[in-house]
Amino acid sequence: MLSDKKILVAVCGSIAAFKTAFFIRLLKKSGAEVKVIMTESASDFITPLTLATLSKNPVYADFFDKKTGKWTSHVELGLWADIMVIAPASANTLAKMATGTCDNLLLATYLSARCPVMVAPAMDLDMFSHPSTQHNLKIIQSFGNILIEPEEGELASGLEGKGRMAEPESLLLHLEDFFKKKTSFKGKKVLITSGPTQEPIDPIRFIGNHSTGKMGKAIAESFVRKGATVHFVTGPVSVFPSNTNIYKVKSAREMLNKVESLYDQCDIVIFTAAVADYRPKNSFTEKKKRDGDNLSVELVENPDIAVTIGQKKTEGKLHVGFALETHNGLDFAKMKLKNKKFDLIILNQTSDDGAGFGHDTNKVTILDKDNIVLESELKSKELIAEDILDQIQMISK
Ligand code: PMT
Repeated sequence: MLSDKKILVAVCGSIAAFKTAFFIRLLKKSGAEVKVIMTESASDFITPLTLATLSKNPVYADFFDKKTGKWTSHVELGLWADIMVIAPASANTLAKMATGTCDNLLLATYLSARCPVMVAPAMDLDMFSHPSTQHNLKIIQSFGNILIEPEEGELASGLEGKGRMAEPESLLLHLEDFFKKKTSFKGKKVLITSGPTQEPIDPIRFIGNHSTGKMGKAIAESFVRKGATVHFVTGPVSVFPSNTNIYKVKSAREMLNKVESLYDQCDIVIFTAAVADYRPKNSFTEKKKRDGDNLSVELVENPDIAVTIGQKKTEGKLHVGFALETHNGLDFAKMKLKNKKFDLIILNQTSDDGAGFGHDTNKVTILDKDNIVLESELKSKELIAEDILDQIQMISK
């Protein structure tokens, strides 16, 4: 399963470092290439020689060798790896990762690595449950790092509780799962609408909304990481996903035209955009000047992109919608799921602090045709995107 995968194992100072030896052995057995970085305190718990012997590679601990001047490139290590696994991750290293501190080779590599990073914390139960550790873990996850929760049980201190590093077999399963997911949308073409639309009143003013495109961007990037080709149709925003085909539009009608032109070639459509339901019936061709009188702007209904595209839906296509609601969220979401022929709908509600428009975080309820399938906590839009893709994968099986 892991043959040809390049795994960078990073070891911090914790008694759980002895388990890392077994973990490295399992990695080698499953065909992975392994390199190891250690912090200075990690070598108080396990010797570099042990880990070098098991990984069949030299162990990296210092930026350079004081005697020879030979230096280790943290950038190269970060570029080499398909994934970096920090196991055990101590409370100290987690805090430094959360703040961008860079005072050893492990942290410099972490900051420069372009690959995904998994962290497997190990510490005493009170250290783990301390608000500062929990806060740091939230921050680290908001950067997209993957947390492997510690397990409950007897700890080195003799106390019982949550803090034991996940067992080597469990770390291996997480890795296998990660690489499986990485290709879970390989070959799929995904069409995503994102951001607001703007409906002109005159060449200067428009009717719009507060959507920033952050949620759409997170979903697009998650699909790209899992091997899909993404067509991203976006209203006016200032954030764009990497490695996608981007189509910039302004109004709902422009968005609909672009979506219609791309629809046939796509397998999955995600309607993240906050599309204006109304537009001015007539827009002024020149800037409307004040004339001492009130101005009435007559609004007409815009096409509903999801409904229009839903009418063309054929066997095998998957449509996923969003609902942003101020009240009666579940009822409206269920109604939209049915009327717009969605297979899944993601409900976010303005009553939840930190959710919906503009925030870096979101809190959602995901529904399929029959049930609520997931109620998330408040977390980064990147992690919400992962949840959404997991659900899409489940219903596409
Ligand atoms: O962009 P962010 O700042 O990160 O914020 C993300 C978000 C809050 C915009 C996003 O998570 C979200 O909820 N998007 C849908 C918002 C919305 O306007 O929902 P709605 O209830 O009006 O529409 C329901 C569904 O129909 C949506 O999938 C929408 O894209 C689609 N729709 C709506 C109207 C329309 N004319 N055409 C459509 O396709």
